[in-house]
Amino acid sequence: MSAPVEEWVATVQLSSFGARKKMLVDVAGEPVSLFKVGPDVFAFHDICIHQERSLFKGTILHGAVICPGHQWKFDLETGYAEDQDECQPTYETKIVDGTVFVSATPRKQAI
Ligand code: FES
Repeated sequence: MSAPVEEWVATVQLSSFGARKKMLVDVAGEPVSLFKVGPDVFAFHDICIHQERSLFKGTILHGAVICPGHQWKFDLETGYAEDQDECQPTYETKIVDGTVFVSATPRKQAI
C-alpha cells in the first residue's frame, strides 16, 4: 500500500486578504475558510461540524475561530472545539512567493 500523495492547492495571494483577514476558497471541491493571523494563515473546512453554519462568517478571538451559529470555539492550531469532544477539519497551509497553498487533504477529521 503506497503512502497518500500530498497535494497542495494554490488559493489566493497573501496580499489579497482585506481588513477582515479572512477568505472563503475552494480546495479540491470543498469550501475552506482561510484566516490570516499575523504572518500565518489557518485553513478550516468551512462547514461547522455542529450544525453546518459557515465558519467564514465567524470571528477570530484569542487564538480560536468562533462559529456564528452557537459560538463553539475552534482552536486555530488544532481545530478542536473548546468544551466539546469534536474537532473541525483543518488543513496545512504554506506560503510560497506570496501565494497561499492549502493541502488538499484535511489534517484532522471530526471525531
Ligand atoms: S453551527 Fe457551529 S457551533 Fe453550532
